Amino acid sequence: MRAVTVSEPGGPDVLALADRPDPEPGPGELVIDVAATAVNRADLLQRQGLYPPPPGASDIIGLECSGTVSAVGPDAGRWQVGDEVCALLAGGGYATRVLVPAGQVMPVPDGVDLVTAAALPEVACTVWSNVFMVAGLKPEENFLVHGGAGGIGTFAIQLASALGARVLTTAGSKEKLAVCADLGAEVTINYREDDFVEAVREATDGRGADVILDNMGASYLGRNVQALATEGRLVIIGMQGGVKGELDISVLLRKRGAVVATALRSRPTTEKAAICAAVAEHVWPLVGDGRIRPIVHTTLPLADAADAHALMEAGDNVGKILLTTDT
Ligand SMILES: NC(=O)c1ccc[n+]([C@@H]2O[C@H](COP(=O)([O-])OP(=O)(O)OC[C@H]3O[C@@H](n4cnc5c(N)ncnc54)[C@H](OP(=O)(O)O)[C@@H]3O)[C@@H](O)[C@H]2O)c1
Repeated sequence: MRAVTVSEPGGPDVLALADRPDPEPGPGELVIDVAATAVNRADLLQRQGLYPPPPGASDIIGLECSGTVSAVGPDAGRWQVGDEVCALLAGGGYATRVLVPAGQVMPVPDGVDLVTAAALPEVACTVWSNVFMVAGLKPEENFLVHGGAGGIGTFAIQLASALGARVLTTAGSKEKLAVCADLGAEVTINYREDDFVEAVREATDGRGADVILDNMGASYLGRNVQALATEGRLVIIGMQGGVKGELDISVLLRKRGAVVATALRSRPTTEKAAICAAVAEHVWPLVGDGRIRPIVHTTLPLADAADAHALMEAGDNVGKILLTTDT
């Protein structure tokens, strides 16, 4: 098979296509002939040598894919050669073939073409597991998602508003805020110009956000807790603003608030399988009936992975960047 490899930790230019041995499925595993994969922020860190794959995972970058099942190991459940699927991966997506545990494979949602389906597994599993399984967002609650125009943000806005929450979001430009509003965000906040704590307070009559999905980590920790409602839940999934923050516990304590941080990639296969099953059951029907659209910024050939990484590093994307194997 062909795969994007990293010659040495560094900038986008260290990515290049090379030959790699084809994977063979073991018990409970499948091989997928990849149609497309998608770029995630974790991929940029892995390329720089800052986010090594979890033990046992492929050293090839790539956390999600879509494609066609080409080999099935023993005890791999319902899947058959020829099935069109998408999958959540611990690694290996930037390749023409990938090995995946059967539980992390999902059908392609109705109405979505095979390439576009690669835009969905990581955002759907991350948003569903954190916002609904961990934070328990309920209809009518105020939900603040930072970075509403990114891959995660565009999906989170649509899913939360489809399920009846009131969505508030931050983004870095007027154009990106307009996209967020179009996707269902009721309150849009320019993080470069406005204080989101004040904006959330005003928009919620002083109540605050019941759930916050945060991509920034340290730099927003204190302000996120200030922006929480009583019994609010802050879920941190990103560290774009650093890893060491300071928190005034008395504020959290008075609010009886919760701060949780999670990473999807390193969770055990059984937990990922439960998340994928829940996504296929609860989220795919919303995609199928058009209430959630996959938001794709651009699609490039796998051979141009370096350009795709540079694009995400520049922060110009709205939604996902896809890489196709059809070069
Ligand atoms: N823990 C997990 O399991 C997990 C899984 C998937 C993703 N993630 C994390 O989730 C985050 C988002 O991922 P993604 O795929 O959506 O990446 P992305 O498409 O590159 O989006 C990054 C977002 O960060 C926003 N941002 C930058 N500076 C900001 C600031 N000061 N305040 C608020 N937002 C700011 C950008 O907003 P503008 O473009 O408007 O400037 C953009 O929307 C990343 O940190 C990623 O590592 C975590």
